[in-house]
Amino acid sequence: MSNPFSISLISWHDGEPLLKSVREAVFIREQGIPPELEWDGLDEAHCRHALVLSRQGEAIGCGRMLSDGHIGRIAVLPKWRGQKIGTAIVESLLDYARTHDYPQVFVDAQVDAVPFYHSFDFVEEGKMFMDAGLPHIKMRLSLSR
Ligand SMILES: CC(C)(COP(=O)(O)OP(=O)(O)OC[C@H]1O[C@@H](n2cnc3c(N)ncnc32)[C@H](O)[C@@H]1OP(=O)(O)O)[C@@H](O)C(=O)NCCC(=O)NCCS
Repeated sequence: MSNPFSISLISWHDGEPLLKSVREAVFIREQGIPPELEWDGLDEAHCRHALVLSRQGEAIGCGRMLSDGHIGRIAVLPKWRGQKIGTAIVESLLDYARTHDYPQVFVDAQVDAVPFYHSFDFVEEGKMFMDAGLPHIKMRLSLSR
């Protein structure tokens, strides 16, 4: 059977309403992150975005990478979790980083998501810190060969 979802790398300009719908559902409504922290002003000028669509065209996942290699805002709608969609999002951003010769990438991981980032070989760096009321830790993945 063909893949139940498709993933593309896009600009904010080309996907704003769909990207926003996933982040509003996951970060603002589910996790209670204040909108003024979620919309940090970096999406438009500084990021490459990953957008995941279901076969029916519903936006079900997203993520972004800043030009300095900082990956973040990885989100999958609850009913779609556990099907490797989050993995596909991170892999697509890592492919982009490798293609564009980024030496390394980072993530400020929510502590609950550390095992998820371990699966790509990210390693923790430094101490835990609080961001938007949730415990986080910086993780790094070296891409240099
Ligand atoms: C984190 C998130 C994006 C993962 O998406 P997903 O599509 O369910 O992830 P995958 O199906 O690709 O999971 C890959 C692996 O990571 C593990 N994993 C995923 N989320 C996890 C979590 N929160 N805690 C522990 N392990 C997790 C899965 O069990 C899976 O392991 P397996 O291969 O041994 O089965 C999703 O749970 C989510 O949107 N969470 C809320 C937002 C969030 O916390 N984002 C991360 C901010 S740093």
